Amino acid sequence: MNTININTVPENINNTTDKIEQSRPGYFGEFGGMFVPPVLEPKLLKLAETFEELKNDGAFIKEFHYYLNQYVGRPSPLYFAERLSNEVGSRIYLKREDLNHTGAHKINNTIGQILVAKRMGAKEIIAETGAGQHGVATATAAALMGMKCKIFMGKRDAERQQLNAYRIKLLGSDFITTDQGTATLKDAVDAALGYYIENPDAFYILGSAVGPHPYPNMVRFFQSVIGTEARNQILQQEGRLPDSIFACVGGGSNAIGLYSGFLNDKKVKIFSAEGGGEGLIPGRTASTLVMGKPMVFQGTYSYCVADAQGNPVDTYSIAAGLDYPGVGPEHAFLKESGRAEYHCVTDNEAVKAFKKLSALEGIIPAIESSHAVALAMKLLKDKNQLSIINLSGRGDKDVDRKLV
Ligand SMILES: Cc1ncc(COP(=O)(O)O)c(C=O)c1O
Repeated sequence: MNTININTVPENINNTTDKIEQSRPGYFGEFGGMFVPPVLEPKLLKLAETFEELKNDGAFIKEFHYYLNQYVGRPSPLYFAERLSNEVGSRIYLKREDLNHTGAHKINNTIGQILVAKRMGAKEIIAETGAGQHGVATATAAALMGMKCKIFMGKRDAERQQLNAYRIKLLGSDFITTDQGTATLKDAVDAALGYYIENPDAFYILGSAVGPHPYPNMVRFFQSVIGTEARNQILQQEGRLPDSIFACVGGGSNAIGLYSGFLNDKKVKIFSAEGGGEGLIPGRTASTLVMGKPMVFQGTYSYCVADAQGNPVDTYSIAAGLDYPGVGPEHAFLKESGRAEYHCVTDNEAVKAFKKLSALEGIIPAIESSHAVALAMKLLKDKNQLSIINLSGRGDKDVDRKLV
């Protein structure tokens, strides 16, 4: 595999991530970049160039927001969770990404990327999926635009997220499972990348803020609608910024979407919940930023859970969407710069939060989002503190797993 360093200008890492992004395309401090085989290099450079143009193109942005409003159902509410707040002893708002069409934040990004694909004249869409939400969101966007689509999913994930596997097929996409490795998200990404290398004319809609440049920037851009809305909503409803914000982190797209609205507000503390599985035990966790180390993995330089020889190790989390050894490069930067904290949240803690939110608020969260709820329940104590939890998705896909 060839290494392409697209860095041109020396960075100043004592700055906001936005400024870093401008001065050193594709990098967040020392993290990021584009580490891909030569066949993909021109494709990704062209994608980066097109995306740079489109994000400043008024007609493109208008079309993106048209679909977000009229099709996805945005803005999503910022809901004051009164009974949860009373139970925890702190003021808690939920950013309701679970109410989006298709049931999670993933659709914000797939609508954005498929509009880019259309502008680039793509004939075929491909995507990986873990929990199936990104697969459903991509298959939905492809149906909406009348485009051919292939979704790659690990066999184990397809078994534990059967509802979404069924939805993908119903939406008219080709559904391809892989039994390589642990048959989870990492293996689905490998399968999709393998297809992409052989069919570089396909358009790869990557589902998280991971992978080579320009994906971490592009995904962040399309998901930043979460943070922009949440910031305006909390100012309107409470007249002030929150003291803290919470999100779960798989690859990191819902989290970076929320955080992007508050990164420059230094007083807003940022807490991230990783899929801790059974705790900090090698092979039984997916807590990448707590357990991992910096290395190149699936096209980017970021943290990864690896063995002593630097090979990615098997991960485990009850949440298919968090069960991934890598993480987006901006999160690696936010951890190292101290701007955001990353915590290991175990399966048991997440299942307790899944039950609690369902019973207290009548809202069944995705098991991924339940990790963020669990972390907030653990850390929040002060009744005068104001917080936002990103409820990245709804739990319909998880109810038949008999988690409780
Ligand atoms: C509901 C939900 N939340 C969170 C995630 C984790 O992804 P990310 O970290 O990119 O937001 C997933 C992934 O499938 C998901 O389905």
